[in-house]
Amino acid sequence: MEHLSYDAAGKINLNNIYNNSDPTAYFSTLSRLSYRIPQDAKPRFQQLIEARRNTTEAEASKVVDLGCSYGVNSALLKHGFSMDELYRIYETAEADDPAFLLQQDRDGYAGRSDGALEMVGVDPAGRAVSYAVDAGILDAGVATNLEEREPTAQDVAAIENADLIISTGCVGYVTEISLERLLQASLDSRPWMAHFVLRMFDFGAAEEMLSQHGYVTEKLQGLFPQRRFASTEEQQHVLDNLSRLGIDATGAEETGWYLAELHVARPEAVAKSLPLNEILKDNSLHTA
Ligand SMILES: C[S@@+](CC[C@H](N)C(=O)[O-])C[C@H]1O[C@@H](n2cnc3c(N)ncnc32)[C@H](O)[C@@H]1O
Repeated sequence: MEHLSYDAAGKINLNNIYNNSDPTAYFSTLSRLSYRIPQDAKPRFQQLIEARRNTTEAEASKVVDLGCSYGVNSALLKHGFSMDELYRIYETAEADDPAFLLQQDRDGYAGRSDGALEMVGVDPAGRAVSYAVDAGILDAGVATNLEEREPTAQDVAAIENADLIISTGCVGYVTEISLERLLQASLDSRPWMAHFVLRMFDFGAAEEMLSQHGYVTEKLQGLFPQRRFASTEEQQHVLDNLSRLGIDATGAEETGWYLAELHVARPEAVAKSLPLNEILKDNSLHTA
């Protein structure tokens, strides 16, 4: 982790791993930082997908993953992998033989695929999105920055009629602007939303936007480890941010981990008739 630089939020700058032509640098760097949020998110997303299916009485679901990168959440949800398996696959991958890696991934993901779950990713990192689609990790991908522009008609065709809009490790890069654009593309299906958000990022503006669309946002009790701090400097930036926000980091971020919370937004009538704690029953952490 030499030559660390920091972004405006005090996080190390990881832009050099977000948009390469293959996922090896992404996974090797994040493995060293013990990045694990998609793993803890997986059972919560699965419970939400199941509950949504029961509500709509549909057998299939469509999930839109904002900040999808190389289709990480899809690899876990649609193809049944764990983060540890992905770390092992890309650690031993032949990064100098991209054609071999792509073919290996095509075979690996096709062999383990849930056909009832349609996964669509959105991320400005065009090479990451292309890799995920080419390898069959994602069913479709949209390489765009919804913070800066409206989705095109072609983008809308890919992201519309969502059942669930999710993200891990993305809020902070994105705001309520992207979330509203995704929601507007799916006005008829009234999708649910589930976002894992670092405690230093305020979800208040998103909550306000969602409430204007008739949504109720609930925060699940509990903290989810996202990754270890890359340096004491990064940890100090975050502790300073949290202290400014009046958030107590004692026994929490102080232990060396970024911690996230899960925000779930659903249309008001659904939130009233189906309590969140009946959907997300097992809130224990560190799941496999
Ligand atoms: C820490 S990675 C998380 C990736 C993936 N969700 C995961 O958990 O492994 C952050 C991702 O956010 C993406 N990102 C940055 N700006 C974005 C934006 N404006 N809209 C959507 N995604 C963005 C980056 O390209 C990167 O893929």
